[in-house]
Amino acid sequence: MSEFAEIILEGKSYQMPVVEGSENEKAIDIASLRAQSGYITLDSGYKNTGATTSAITFLDGEQGILRYRGYPIEQLAEKSNFIEVAYLLIYGSLPTEQELQDFSDRIRRHTLVNEDMRKILDGFPSTSHPMGILSALISSLTAFYPESLNPNQSQEEVDLSIIRLLAKISTIAAWSYKNSIGHPVNYPKNKLDYCSNFLHMMFAYPTEDYEINPVVVDALNKLLILHADHEQNCSTSTVRLVGSANASLYSSVSAGISALWGPLHGGANQAVIEMLEAIKADGGDSKKYIEKAKDKDDPFRLMGFGHRVYKNFDPRAKIIKKAADEVLTALGINDPILTIAKELEEAALNDPYFVERKLYPNVDFYSGIIYRAIGIPTDMFTVMFALGRLPGWIAQWKEMRENKEPIGRPRQVYTGATERDYVSIEKR
Ligand code: SDX
Repeated sequence: MSEFAEIILEGKSYQMPVVEGSENEKAIDIASLRAQSGYITLDSGYKNTGATTSAITFLDGEQGILRYRGYPIEQLAEKSNFIEVAYLLIYGSLPTEQELQDFSDRIRRHTLVNEDMRKILDGFPSTSHPMGILSALISSLTAFYPESLNPNQSQEEVDLSIIRLLAKISTIAAWSYKNSIGHPVNYPKNKLDYCSNFLHMMFAYPTEDYEINPVVVDALNKLLILHADHEQNCSTSTVRLVGSANASLYSSVSAGISALWGPLHGGANQAVIEMLEAIKADGGDSKKYIEKAKDKDDPFRLMGFGHRVYKNFDPRAKIIKKAADEVLTALGINDPILTIAKELEEAALNDPYFVERKLYPNVDFYSGIIYRAIGIPTDMFTVMFALGRLPGWIAQWKEMRENKEPIGRPRQVYTGATERDYVSIEKR
C-alpha cells in the first residue's frame, strides 16, 4: 500500500503522496498542495526541500557516503581516472575500453579554442579573478557555436557541445592563468592525457621542455574525480534552474561557475588557504582561531568546515587529507600550513561547539594544500573546483532536459505593503 502524508488545514484534510527513492529516501510530493488547499510550503535555503529526483549521485550526510551512479567515491578515486568518471556521470555507466578511447580521442580533438577568444582574454585586466574570466569565456562559446542555442538540438549535437565544453574548459582555464601572469599561452598537446595536458598548458614555457610529474598527474586526477558531482548543491541547482528555461548548456554552466565562486561554496578552497596563511602570519595559534569561529560577534568562520548535508566526515575530505600527506611527501615539501590545518581539525573535532553542530572538515579544507603543492596559484583553486565539477553540471543539465522538467519558478510569501494609492511628490 503506497504511503501518503495527511495535512490538515483549517479543519480540512489533504493527502499528499510519498515518493521513495532507490536508497529508501522518502519525500512528500506536494505538487497538488496549492491547487487543493491554496497553501504553499516555505523552506529558506531549501534545507528540507527536494527540487527533483535524480539517478546521478547519491550521498548520505549522516553516514558520510558518496556514490557516482552507484560506485563508491573511494573506489573511483583509487581505481578510475577523471575522463572515465566524466563518462560515467554523463552517460550513466562505466565505458568499455573502446567507448573510453573514443570519448578521450574526441575530447583531445576539441581542446583548441577559436583564436578570437584570445582577444576576449586580452581584454581582461591582468588583475581579473580567473573565475570571472572562466564564466565569461564559457558563456562566449555560445557566440562561437550559435547552434548550441537551439533548445531542440539532436543528441549528436548535444554530445558535441558536451565534448567541446569538457575539452575547452581546461584550455580556457590555463590560458586565463597565463594571461594573469603576463606569460605566453601554451597550446594543448593532444598526445597527452587530460590532466597532463592541463599541467603542460599551465606550467610549460616555450623556452624549455616541461617534464610531467606522474605524482602530480595522479593527485590532479584524484582531486578532479572527488569534485566531479555532488547532487543538488548550490551551483548544480543553478545549472539546472538556468537550463530549465531552455538556456544552452554553455549559458547554464557559465551561471553555475558564478554560483560556485561564492566563498560559502566552491570559493571556500581559496578562503581556507588564505585563512591558514593568516593564522600562520599571526603566530600559528590555532586555539585563538577556534575561539574566534565560535564567537557569534566575530564574523570569522572556520573555512573548509561545516556542510549543509554532511553531518559526519565529508568522505572526500578523508581521501584528500590522505592524498595531501602522500603528495607533499612524494614532492619533498614540508608545508607549515598543513600542520596548522591538522591542528585546527584536531582542536575543532574535540570542541563541543563544533561537535554539537556536527561541523567537520569538508572537501575544501585540505584540497588547497595539494593544489598549492603542485603549483596551482591560490586564486585558481576555485577554477580547479569548476574543472572537476563540470562533468556533474553537464550530467545534471542533461538529466533535467531528458526528463523534460518544467521551468523552475519557486513561489513566495509576500510580506510587503498592502494596496495603497500613489502619492504625488509635493504631498510626500
Ligand atoms: C561546498 O552543498 C554542497 O554539496 C557543497 C559542496 C559541493 O561539493 O558542491 O560540498 C562544496 O560548498 C563545501 C562547503 C564549503 N564552504 C565552507 O567551508 C564555508 C564554511 N562553512 C559554512 O559557512 C557552512 O558550514 C556552510 C555554508 C557550508 C553550511 O551552512 P548551513 O548548512 O546553512 O549551516 P549554518 O550556516 O546554518 O550553520 C549552522 C551552525 C551555525 O551556528 P548557530 O547559528 O546554530 O549557533 O553552525 C555554525 C553556524 O554559525 N557554523 C560554523 C561554520 N559553519 C557553520 N561556525 C564556524 N565555522 C564554520 N565553518
